[in-house]
Formats: sequence, structure tokens, C-alpha cells
Amino acid sequence: MAVIEVERLTRSYRSRTGTFRRRIAVVEALRGVSFSVEPGELFGLLGPNGAGKTTMIKVLTTLLLPTSGSARVLDYDVRRQARHIRGRIGYVFGGDRGLYDRLSALDNLRYFADLYRVPPRKRVARIESLLELVELKGRERERVETYSRGMKQRLHIARGLLHDPEILFLDEPTIGLDPLGARELRQTISGLHDAGKTIVLTTHYMYEADALCQRIAVIANGSFVATGTPSDLKAVVGDHTIIEIETFGIPDQLIERLRTIPGVRSIGVETRDLAQVLLVQSAVGADVVRSLLNELVDVQTGKVVTREPTLEDAYVELVKSA
Ligand SMILES: Nc1ncnc2c1ncn2[C@@H]1O[C@H](COP(=O)(O)OP(=O)(O)O)[C@@H](O)[C@H]1O
Ligand SMILES: [Mg+2]
Repeated sequence: MAVIEVERLTRSYRSRTGTFRRRIAVVEALRGVSFSVEPGELFGLLGPNGAGKTTMIKVLTTLLLPTSGSARVLDYDVRRQARHIRGRIGYVFGGDRGLYDRLSALDNLRYFADLYRVPPRKRVARIESLLELVELKGRERERVETYSRGMKQRLHIARGLLHDPEILFLDEPTIGLDPLGARELRQTISGLHDAGKTIVLTTHYMYEADALCQRIAVIANGSFVATGTPSDLKAVVGDHTIIEIETFGIPDQLIERLRTIPGVRSIGVETRDLAQVLLVQSAVGADVVRSLLNELVDVQTGKVVTREPTLEDAYVELVKSA
């Protein structure tokens, strides 16, 4: 049985805008999404900023009511049975809030264990094993304010797990971490998943979704544009070849012209140092390289590389058509 079941879920926000003519603006943050998560799964919601990821997590953790459609968590309805859900899930939102900086990690966990009503006789052992799990053992008596962001984020996860929830929701857990901190945190998340925990994670990093998740839903503008395993998603661009061309000072009109070359599916532009790197998705492989380079005779170019598509390319393709 699925532990999360979402059907045609929508959620809009109403806000007032305009200083002179007050009017109500409606933002449709979720526009009818459906999916389910199986026990023990590590499910990823991948999408750009503003896609609706946090809104989705807030609905599932009963912090926001849906506008329409249905969402069930552990077979309870998020509207009518929120109380039953809350005690059985944990969540960690990105950012620094929610820990007492002047206290040690140990005192933070003791405080929250009390708040979450962890039975007193289980407390010591639970805190001990969580410190072990998030690799803060040995540092637990130091004040949280002396911790790196990565350590704080791992402590957040320990806090979210104190009451031994069946599902853990992680909203952009590695945001703002340095690469090493992010890697350690991903190891922690992987370890949790190996230990059998169901995890729903949001991210806007393709690499992270690819490295961690068994299944990914790609979300853009409040709608799912694809759901599948990382290799399913890569298959979206499977019959494409990616041609990367380093250019310097390429005019926008020229990029527009390149887009019209037969065989060119799409062109993304990435700035790397002084270069604008054209990421050309082509359906017919290297045949278009010559046509592209012919158009580029008057532009300074550098490296030209032809490669297999990655999950990131699939993501660009999917989000583009959303
Ligand atoms: N409290 C709010 N009031 C109005 N609009 C909001 C509110 N929260 C989010 N939104 C809007 O809803 C959309 C989805 O936001 P969010 O779920 O935070 O996306 P994500 O987490 O993927 O970046 C965005 O357009 C955002 O501006
Ligand atoms: Mg968000």
C-alpha cells in the first residue's frame, strides 16, 4: 500500500497587490498533480524555484490545506485527519530556523524530545543513536552556534527524526551548504534510506536527484512534467546528442538563428567564465555540427564537444516544454 497518495491536487494562494487599485492576485502553485509514494521509497521532487515544491511538502505535512483534490498520508486525509498524520511524519525545511544556537546539540535534542513527547525511557538511547546517525557524536556538547551549516542541517535532520517518524520530508536539504557539507548530508540521507525510512525530498539540483532518488517527479509551474526513475528521465533525451560549443561574445540574434537550423531541437546558453557555452540538443547527432559552425564563422569559438545526454539535459528539455 502506498504511504502517500495524491490525486489532482491543487493549491492556490491569494494575495493583495497594487497600492492604488487594490486587487486580489491568485497564484496557482499546484495545478492538479497526482502521484504516490511506496513504503521505503526515496522520492524526489525536482524543479526550479517557484515550481511548487515547498507548497507540495507543506500540504503533505498538513501545514497548508489543499484548494482541491485529495492527498492522503499513511492512509489519513490531510484535511480531516491532520492530527493523525503529524505524529507519524517528520520534516526539515531548508534554512537556519528551528534550533537554539546558544544550546548544545544534545540540549537541543533533549528539548525537542520533550516537546515531541518521546517517552522518557527511550530518550537517551534515541538521542544517542541519532547523533551517531548524523555523525555528530563527539561534538554534541558544543554550542550549535559554533557548527558549520552542514552540521546544523544534520542536526535538523536528527531533530526531525526524534519521534521516529515513518516518513521524513526534506525540503531542499542541501541548500546553502558547501560542496563537502552537501556531500556529507547526502550520505546521511542515503544511510536513512538504506535503513528503510521513506523519504520525500525536494531539490533543484539534478545531480542530487540523480544521486539520491529512486524515483523523481519533475515539477514546473505547479504541474508534473515527468515522473520516473533517473534513467527513465534520461530516456526523454535518449535519442539526442548534446553538442557543447564554447563561444565568446555571441549576439542573441545569432543564437535565435541557430535555433532554426534543421536538426536542432533546442539550445541552452550557460555562462562559464568568459565564455557563453551553447548546449545544443540535436536529434540527428553530429550532422548539425558543420551547419552550426558555418553560422558561427564570425564569432570567436573555443572547445566543441559532443556528448551523451545527462539528467540535466532531460530536465532542461522537460521544463522547457512545460
Ligand atoms: N504565501 C504565499 N503567497 C503567495 N504566493 C506564494 C506563497 N508561497 C508561495 N507562493 C507562490 O507559489 C509558487 C510556488 O512556490 P513554492 O511552492 O515556494 O515553490 P518552490 O518551493 O518550488 O520554489 C510561486 O509562484 C510562489 O511565488
Ligand atoms: Mg521551496
